[in-house]
Amino acid sequence: MKNYVNIENKIKSYNKKIIVSGDKSISIRCILLASQAIGKSRIFNLLESEDVLNSLKSINKLGIKYKKFRNFYEIYGLGINGYKIKNNCTIDAGNSGTLARLILGLLIDSKKQVKLIGDKSLSKRDFSRVINPLRLFGANINSKNGKLPVTITGSDYLRPINYIENLGSAQCKSAVMLGAIKTPGKTKIKAIKSRNHTELIFRKLDIPIKTLKKKDFDLIEVDGPTNYSGFDYKVPGDISSSSFFLVLTILSTKSKIIIKNVNVNSSRTGIIKILNKMNAKILLKNRKIYKGEPVADISVQSVSNLKGINCPKNLNSSAIDEFLVIFLVAARAKGVSIFKNLSELNKKESPRLDIAVDFLKKIGIKVLRQKDSIKIYGNPFLELKNKYTVNNFRKDHRVFMMSCIAALSFGGKWKIDDKDSIQSSFPTFLKILRKLGAQIV
Ligand code: S3P
Repeated sequence: MKNYVNIENKIKSYNKKIIVSGDKSISIRCILLASQAIGKSRIFNLLESEDVLNSLKSINKLGIKYKKFRNFYEIYGLGINGYKIKNNCTIDAGNSGTLARLILGLLIDSKKQVKLIGDKSLSKRDFSRVINPLRLFGANINSKNGKLPVTITGSDYLRPINYIENLGSAQCKSAVMLGAIKTPGKTKIKAIKSRNHTELIFRKLDIPIKTLKKKDFDLIEVDGPTNYSGFDYKVPGDISSSSFFLVLTILSTKSKIIIKNVNVNSSRTGIIKILNKMNAKILLKNRKIYKGEPVADISVQSVSNLKGINCPKNLNSSAIDEFLVIFLVAARAKGVSIFKNLSELNKKESPRLDIAVDFLKKIGIKVLRQKDSIKIYGNPFLELKNKYTVNNFRKDHRVFMMSCIAALSFGGKWKIDDKDSIQSSFPTFLKILRKLGAQIV
């Protein structure tokens, strides 16, 4: 089957309610935590994407069984010392940085050596950011240049650590928190603010955790070792997947959308704050709290008077996976938009800052790039007529999806490669676009 899409028409007006699939960060955390709980956990609305299915396969390699039912997965955890690891065990994290980095935290007491591998894109990414703190617990970790493959053999003599997380990376913070569950004593973390799903789920599982929120960072203390019981969890919709439809609606004409039941944890809603500052009116309705996580329906409509933004850098972490589509809004806004301190954006599935600069230039937008910041000179009259091909983006799912949104919003005749990339985070992406009326062949 062909692995590209053609888009040759802008999307027409629509007024629709949609549901997006379950949150990827929360789905992966639920699986990893369920694998070490005592007894059965049931995860409802689990995202069924490759990153998440690779998480299930990975815990299975560690001796944990699971079973799929019609609308939930059961995972049969064996406690914090329960992994049954065979000789020559290899775990393949595929494309998932979250799975790869977090699972290392759970292996710091592994009785046998485990080898962690991933796909081409993951093999280019940095693992020293988790290897260094996890070594301090006493685990034996080997890797060439801080890249995959990584081998890890745990220690029987783990010691708690004091760790300063200064990248704003939830993956690093969470890997250390998972290590702390197994380690006798108090592990203390000072972390630049980043998504806090691990903290919230620890609290719900009665894992001893204290958090203190300061202005620019959080202090976290986990007191281990601690066992906890199996749990039920209903995963809310993913705001990162929702972001494509928020932007499509904002950029299209006379359209409206409501996205039901989305996780709106403030450590994830940077996109809403940023787009609202650019004159969108994104509203949250039917707000509730589920297991400490804020959930709501998100609504937005087309905006004809978008304005540029000088984006406050304290919003970077809470919008980190959404910048590609935010840049499309900046491309259509009146005035100049400035986004600073985005070096982490180049550390994702592909170098997204570099890719965004090339992409925006290709569609005729003036862009100034300085090291880790980008200035976008918006054009409120942006209308494309030419032919565009998008390829060579390391099969990055978010680059593929952003390109589809650009094609449907700005016009032109597009061929976008590597359609299969959406399998890693959002397999139903194209189906939902078609439901909104998009013509994609
Ligand atoms: C994630 C954290 C972020 C994000 C990634 C998911 C998580 O990465 O980009 O898609 O689930 O913890 P970093 O922690 O590297 O910033």
